[in-house]
Amino acid sequence: MIAGKQVLLIVGGGIAAYKALELVRLLHKAGASVVPVLTRAGAEFVTPLSLSALAGARIYSELFDLTDEAEMGHIQLSRSADLVVVAPATADLMAKMAAGLSNDLASTLLLATDKRVLIAPAMNVRMWEHPATRRNLAALTGDGVQVVGPNAGEMACGEYGPGRMAEPEEILTAIEAALGAGPLRGRHVVVTSGPTHEPIDPVRYIANRSSGAQGAAIAAALVALGARVSFVTGPASVPPPQGVDVLRVETAQEMLAAVEAALPADAAVFAAAVADWRVANAAGQKVKKDGSGRAPALEFAENPDILATVSKMETGRPKLVVGFAAETQDVVAHATAKRARKGCDWIVANDVSAGTGIMGGTENAVTLISDGGAEEWPRMAKQAVARRLAERIAEALA
Ligand code: C5P
Repeated sequence: MIAGKQVLLIVGGGIAAYKALELVRLLHKAGASVVPVLTRAGAEFVTPLSLSALAGARIYSELFDLTDEAEMGHIQLSRSADLVVVAPATADLMAKMAAGLSNDLASTLLLATDKRVLIAPAMNVRMWEHPATRRNLAALTGDGVQVVGPNAGEMACGEYGPGRMAEPEEILTAIEAALGAGPLRGRHVVVTSGPTHEPIDPVRYIANRSSGAQGAAIAAALVALGARVSFVTGPASVPPPQGVDVLRVETAQEMLAAVEAALPADAAVFAAAVADWRVANAAGQKVKKDGSGRAPALEFAENPDILATVSKMETGRPKLVVGFAAETQDVVAHATAKRARKGCDWIVANDVSAGTGIMGGTENAVTLISDGGAEEWPRMAKQAVARRLAERIAEALA
């Protein structure tokens, strides 16, 4: 619960600032108090009056306009809150934070605070993807700043991609987690993600095209609900999310060992695309052409099935074990059979046949198979699938 907590909310200058008003309303409804700080640019998008009316508090805007530097100086203002939230966090504000500038009230508060900081970035997709913003984001997360969003979607400027500020409900969830109030607080969840690499020799391997996007999104959603997440990842192209304990592995065998070492857990979500087979006769030295024209013969050995192994553990089995099934036909029938075969509690099934645009895309359409039957979810962003799954996991563990 966040009732009684105080949030210092810095509203930056972006079209998403209007969503900050809804965030204030949600925080109030949850019983938190809000001290709003409006940047000069933010005031171009929302009025000080609407923000202070919704917050039910006076608004702070300019460093030298703190009428009452004596009554409440910026240092005190930055420290009296339980959490500092920046929404929207513009590219400019992120750059200032990363560089440690303090040339207005917002940046001064951010530099002076001793409290945790959560940012909800919002900007044009090119600005978000610019190397400068990537550098600033890396610096900020390295400094322990927590990040919620941005989401991919249609932007106010007409472009499409990541850059939309997270929705107020998502920011509220992230605030609850940051304040240690999420429904998964005190719970430990193991998540596997990404592909595995199975060596052929010291320089070559067998892999698959998994990016690790869905696994990373699920881990992030679980963290946002307050869980401690052991994130066991193969060599994925999507980086691990903030706030997880990262366990990096290459092969399926290493992945199983890392999962077993991470247990016990309340729940386990196996989103990794694990190679079914490994090369049994992997060479210790680089395999050379021998001039005979004959290709080397690779022999294969079956990899352990991590999902089935954990699902069938006699002692220490997580209460909830979730597997995935990517199918191209008869999705529900195949996934239902897989659930029984592997012994897991839930299967998240999706149709990855060509034409769905799901493989490598930003959206997913899944069916959740449990002992209650098959439940079809509407097509939505992969982060939204992750959030919904995390919420269901929280309900199941409650
Ligand atoms: O059998 P299939 O690979 O389709 O099953 C997919 C599910 O099983 C996924 O949840 C995947 O993470 C898991 N799996 C596993 N270990 C394997 C193969 C699959 O954990 N060796």
